[in-house]
Amino acid sequence: MTAGVNVGIGASTAPQALMAVDHAAIAAAAALLEQGALVAFPTETVYGLGADAENPAAVARIYEAKGRPSDHPVIVHVAPDADLTYWAAEIPEQARQLAAAFWPGPLTLILKRAAHIPDAVSGGQDTVGLRCPSHPVAIALLQAFKGGKGGVAAPSANKFGQVSPTTAQHVRDEFGAQVGDGGLIRAVLDGGASAVGIESTIVDLSRLATHGPVLLRPGHISADAIAAVIDQLPAAPDAAAPRASGTLASHYAPHTPVAMLDGATLALTLAQLKAAGRKVALICYSELPAETAGVVTRLPAVPDGYAYALYAALRALDRSGADLILVEAPPQDAAWLGVNDRLRRAAHGSTGIVHGLLNHQSPIRN
Ligand code: TXA
Ligand code: MG
Repeated sequence: MTAGVNVGIGASTAPQALMAVDHAAIAAAAALLEQGALVAFPTETVYGLGADAENPAAVARIYEAKGRPSDHPVIVHVAPDADLTYWAAEIPEQARQLAAAFWPGPLTLILKRAAHIPDAVSGGQDTVGLRCPSHPVAIALLQAFKGGKGGVAAPSANKFGQVSPTTAQHVRDEFGAQVGDGGLIRAVLDGGASAVGIESTIVDLSRLATHGPVLLRPGHISADAIAAVIDQLPAAPDAAAPRASGTLASHYAPHTPVAMLDGATLALTLAQLKAAGRKVALICYSELPAETAGVVTRLPAVPDGYAYALYAALRALDRSGADLILVEAPPQDAAWLGVNDRLRRAAHGSTGIVHGLLNHQSPIRN
């Protein structure tokens, strides 16, 4: 394989279940991982930036490529028949039940780590995040890597704090010259667009005796779905919960400021921004008087479809030259929790931005 070349696995639009997996490309990518190199690969949630979880120098390259602080833990991805006792020091019954119910799939379990997990993976904490992804390319890679016995440490394949990639092209856009033979990221496996579109649900089971199960990050697998399996609703994180960088207030932010408003204020604000000469890109899901916005992206009015399209929309609108990405606030019910969580973080810190754009003395565009 020519490292760094898109090792083409199916067409980018192929449905994942029907995708033919290119085993030669997978074997080459697994060999690169075994040599300590970084490989980006598709999962059903978002694309991951993978390294051998047991090779601290390789894991350090992830931090270097992402520009991520090295005390943030990374998820270890394992093959479907992985031996959890190899990775975790304690495996509570709830972990086995959740793995049986949702793996392979978009759920990460935080467990007490086994002694040999490098600090580089655990961020110096006494826990490890484990996930078995369901994307066929990810599964094939995990089965080829170290004969299916290894773990691939992989955060989302974006620069620290940026929007997660849901296509191979997003990864190449994000890392540019860092992808390729001479770059830090030696290959990008293309597995089409990620079907879920937002990062995995994270449940902390490492402090069950004192705190019960804790939902560190909402996602496609809901708290209710978890409760149906383990008979206990996971709690919201407390101050002592393990740190998760995806839970930083300002995570997942594009470069263009993002503001969220609900239907009633949205139409009025759009009109005012237009009158003030501002260029606004709009993400909505309902029928709105949207003609006042510069670029309009209407996403599906259902949470799964919305999540699937959200990050690609944020990336596209980030390049549209708008002064502001205005988002119609989605419904507040439980099914939208994962989407609302990501949007809140993308919009963090931009509360004054609409006001500022409206009150600026001279419009920057006419
Ligand atoms: O869907 C996903 O989870 C994607 C794909 C690639 O699997 N990965 C992902 O990784 O979103 P990342 O690093 O962007 O987010 C993982 C989150 C971070 O917030 C990290 O802090 C947290 O998981 N995490 C990982 N290991 C942890 C641990 N031992 N304790 C607490 N949080 C942990
Ligand atoms: Mg991330």
